[in-house]
Amino acid sequence: MNFKLTEEQLAVQQAARDFAQNVLKPGVIERDNAQKFPTEEIKQLGKLGFLGMMVDPKYGGGGMDTVSYVLAMEEISKVDASASVVMSVNNSLVCWGLENFGNEDQKQKYLVPLAKGEIIGAFCLSEPEAGSDATSQRTTAIDKGDHYLLNGTKNWITNGNTASVYLVMAQTDVAKGHKGINCLIVEKGMPGFQIGNKEDKLGIRGSDTHSLMFTDVKVPKANRIGEDGFGFKFAMKTLGGGRIGIASQALGIASGAYELALAYSKERKAFGKVISNHQAIQFKLADMATEIEAARLLCLKAAWLKDNHQDYTLAGSIAKVFASRVAMETTVEAVQVHGGYGYVKEYHVERLMRDAKITQIYEGTTEVQKIVISRSVLSN
Ligand code: CAA
Repeated sequence: MNFKLTEEQLAVQQAARDFAQNVLKPGVIERDNAQKFPTEEIKQLGKLGFLGMMVDPKYGGGGMDTVSYVLAMEEISKVDASASVVMSVNNSLVCWGLENFGNEDQKQKYLVPLAKGEIIGAFCLSEPEAGSDATSQRTTAIDKGDHYLLNGTKNWITNGNTASVYLVMAQTDVAKGHKGINCLIVEKGMPGFQIGNKEDKLGIRGSDTHSLMFTDVKVPKANRIGEDGFGFKFAMKTLGGGRIGIASQALGIASGAYELALAYSKERKAFGKVISNHQAIQFKLADMATEIEAARLLCLKAAWLKDNHQDYTLAGSIAKVFASRVAMETTVEAVQVHGGYGYVKEYHVERLMRDAKITQIYEGTTEVQKIVISRSVLSN
């Protein structure tokens, strides 16, 4: 085992850290308050190559490894989890899905601008009645020869209004169950495609979450990813890597809160000394540091498996379950270390605590991840 990061990985980590601290941090409280999407910041992230990090340079990407992606996700998420979810969806779900399963025309038309960060994408699986139970798709894509007729509603779609390209899962043949599901590339502006209201969320309030409505949208057959009926497998395979991204987001939220608590504990005085000299605070910091290190190792292990072409589904789910729990627990404790100051927006930790919760919900709830993990351990 080699735990030493390469020069290139360290440079990516430093670039992401600088961007987060210098560009994202100044406006993050205001964007959270106003539910304002980080439009300019995301454009800059794209120009720096953070929206198509792992895509082959011949398609406009950065050609980086998954370990670098985890390092960058952690740094961005320490400061702004609303920006990092955009980054995660674009990299892990949209670009990765298109690069690995799209055809050459689809890659040239959609992947290249997505990887360059000129446009962003959305991944549309969840529905009012198909969140965790993803095989129960009600959205239909009826085969009309040269096109599909798309009808239905998608829920909780990250980048819902800001995306230009949407990967939409829909049922073509109900009789075939999950083997009758297709993934279609839908463009914003296609007639019959409407964007619903923006969700008013507890956390990641700067991100743009919408429901989407499709009414007789004609989607060319050329926009189907893979063979007929490949859509559910496409979604599962793509989400397998997506969970490494969300685990890293959870890790970043936790380590961001920990760093704030650590710094505060060295400044704040109580009972005649800085609070870091009180054992009650020392033990909290020790617990946070221990849990975060374990979460980081799980994220990096899953990334390493992916980079080395080994099965990473189980490792990604384990990383997500653990890191998202650490994010919740650490942020709650970071607020506690700050006392009353932790409860106000200026000190950032209350936002991180609100942001942490989503990591236990999206890209497969903790409960769904435990289904994946238990099936794997029981099958051995
Ligand atoms: N890779 C490849 N194939 C897979 C797979 C994987 N990781 N997981 C399942 N499959 C295949 C199975 O092999 C099976 O195929 P066969 O019939 O050919 O064998 C098929 O998919 C169906 O699998 P299951 O029978 O296991 O399906 P299930 O209904 O019992 O449950 C589940 C599967 C794991 C619970 C799945 O429904 C799931 O992952 N649900 C969560 C969905 C999710 O993560 N949603 C997130 C939305 S995106 C999002 O949140 C993005 C965002 O905004 C940030």
